[in-house]
Amino acid sequence: MAKTALITGASKRVGKSMAVHLARLGWNMAIHYNSSETEAKMFRDELEKDYPHQQFAIFKADLNSTAEVEMLLPEVVRIMHTIDLLINNASLFGSATIDKTSTEFLEQQMNVNFKAPFILTRDFAHTCQSGVIVNIVDTRIVNNQSGFAAYSLSKKALWELTKMAALEFGPTIRVNAIAPGLTLPPTDKGEDYLLKLAEKIAMKRPGGLEPILKSLEYILNNDYLTGQLLFCDGGENLGILN
Ligand SMILES: NC(=O)c1ccc[n+]([C@@H]2O[C@H](COP(=O)([O-])OP(=O)(O)OC[C@H]3O[C@@H](n4cnc5c(N)ncnc54)[C@H](OP(=O)(O)O)[C@@H]3O)[C@@H](O)[C@H]2O)c1
Repeated sequence: MAKTALITGASKRVGKSMAVHLARLGWNMAIHYNSSETEAKMFRDELEKDYPHQQFAIFKADLNSTAEVEMLLPEVVRIMHTIDLLINNASLFGSATIDKTSTEFLEQQMNVNFKAPFILTRDFAHTCQSGVIVNIVDTRIVNNQSGFAAYSLSKKALWELTKMAALEFGPTIRVNAIAPGLTLPPTDKGEDYLLKLAEKIAMKRPGGLEPILKSLEYILNNDYLTGQLLFCDGGENLGILN
């Protein structure tokens, strides 16, 4: 029987690419979205056409709202009956130093990037009792540059949660993380932006989506792997060249 994945923020970009990849491998898919309803519906329709024997459904939740986060997993289980894989992918990528971070901004970044994955992890463990969780963090967790202070701290916390949850919920639930680096440019910037930044990392090029998809598959296939972080960053975590 096909397994079911819930991917947050799955209607576009990295989340969508993981959903397409898993659908090709035979997975049913719960596509979570917040503001991208049109894209989510179109994506579901495409998947239903391409894979008519699998189940696809869309679920809306604002991950900045605790009430909506708490309703998400029970609603997915009600419709899809089970969840075998949770991918905490949705995020807010907000730029501000500590000095320029308002309290509201801090709360939004922490709510979407850390608190929501925490609640979904807890609920997955309660309700599903076995399976795999993959948290998408960021290579920025290794440094202390504060240009994206709240975002980076939320992802550092998500990585700590990954290890803590792996220990608490093993052996039936495995929890791992993927740390992308230069993958897709922000929506207001082009590929040039990534090419310029890539000059200063070991691999001298942006990685695109493929390293993330390969890492996801590796996590799924390696059933002794838990509490681990796979960097998909062309060596960016090693440091930036002068
Ligand atoms: N892109 C990169 O190069 C890169 C690099 C390092 C790490 N990452 C990590 O990889 C993951 C995916 O990156 P991405 O660039 O594809 O992300 P993205 O496009 O910035 O965001 C992904 C999704 O997050 C959802 N989201 C944002 N705020 C939300 C809210 N309040 N409630 C619910 N959903 C919300 C959005 O859903 P809606 O559109 O439906 O609102 C959005 O489509 C993220 O965790 C990111 O931190 C990416």
